[in-house]
Amino acid sequence: MRLPALLALVAGSEALPQFGGSGFTMLRFGCSQLVIDRIDPLVNPGQAPSPHMHQVVGGDAFNTTMAVTDISKQAKCTTCGYSEDLSNYWTANLYFKARNGTYKRVPQIPNRELFNDKYTTGTKGGFVVYYVSPGKGQVTAFKPGFRMLTGDANQREKIGNGRKSQSCFRCYTSKNFGGDNAAPCADSKLDTEHLPTGPCPGGIRSNILYPTCWDGKNLDSPDHKSHVAYPVGGPAPFTGTSIQGTCPSTHPVKIPQIMLEIVWDTTQFNNKAEWPEDGSQPFVLSTGDPTGYGQHGDYVFGWQGDSLQRAMDEAKGCMGASCGGLKTQAVSAGNNCKVKNRVLEDADGWLTSLPGMPMQL
Ligand SMILES: *[C@@H]1O[C@H](CO)[C@@H](O)[C@H](O)[C@H]1NC(C)=O
Ligand SMILES: *[C@@H]1O[C@H](CO)[C@@H](O)[C@H](O)[C@H]1NC(C)=O
Repeated sequence: MRLPALLALVAGSEALPQFGGSGFTMLRFGCSQLVIDRIDPLVNPGQAPSPHMHQVVGGDAFNTTMAVTDISKQAKCTTCGYSEDLSNYWTANLYFKARNGTYKRVPQIPNRELFNDKYTTGTKGGFVVYYVSPGKGQVTAFKPGFRMLTGDANQREKIGNGRKSQSCFRCYTSKNFGGDNAAPCADSKLDTEHLPTGPCPGGIRSNILYPTCWDGKNLDSPDHKSHVAYPVGGPAPFTGTSIQGTCPSTHPVKIPQIMLEIVWDTTQFNNKAEWPEDGSQPFVLSTGDPTGYGQHGDYVFGWQGDSLQRAMDEAKGCMGASCGGLKTQAVSAGNNCKVKNRVLEDADGWLTSLPGMPMQL
């Protein structure tokens, strides 16, 4: 998302004077890759390998099993720009399926600069994380042990008619983020819930918006979803003061809006001679999903102490990777934070099948 575009959207809701002023906080920071591994401590705790591959960012407490506890006390480093954020965030990976039936992982590239910060342009792999609050006292930060999942890895069709998107893809029309001129998941002409159908000269951007309403009690739930909810009208658009929407009575507590933004560098895979002969698009999520509707995101909260609450309440308005008293770290420190793979398998060569998926040659 580019600054002028965001301003335009924010201006539409009369929040422009608040931008960097009296309220509206938007943390936006890059997190380098922590690990690419076939584990999922939320959905498949203890399993190594889990059914599909993930790419993970954040603190190094990430493991096959993660107890409901304060992981900010277990982690020693983080891949994220804010050094007090030891949370973990993970999503499926993207693969290219060549005409000869073999797969290659699509690399991620750093995002564009937005708020004059280096944290989004100097990262290695990974993605950009956003936290938004409409202002002081408006959201309740997550508690230690909190975790949630958004999206469904098995989804293969568009979710509900007329519902706003919680997950979308944008096809960059040229190099250097061409076409990145509006907030994500808000305009169905720019963003689709399915993977783009044609080659994207500048790569593909993924956005995943997490729920913004909480039941106020449970740190987790059996499906990792029912303790949280989207606003009554569906996922809130990522714009200005309307960010939070209205929470349902079952989930009355407003929580920060988290959004993930991933830039997949598909440029080396844009030769149509390598695409399927039937004209379909060649990209597939690591879940085996060629539609994109199954894009999902996992989250385990791990900010230290009250740092996230302070940021969300920062009355001066926090933008990007600069916010009141929050601590940042050198980009190199984030790039050097790693965890070892628990499952040793090839994720990066030309593969005859997706890791964990049946042979599809
Ligand atoms: C990860 O979990 C395994 C199994 O529970 C444990 O043996 C190992 O010490 C953990 N690793 C770290 C770095 O915490
Ligand atoms: C399949 O196609 C890719 C892309 O052209 C190529 O790099 C790879 O070597 C091919 N693999 C086989 C087994 O032909």
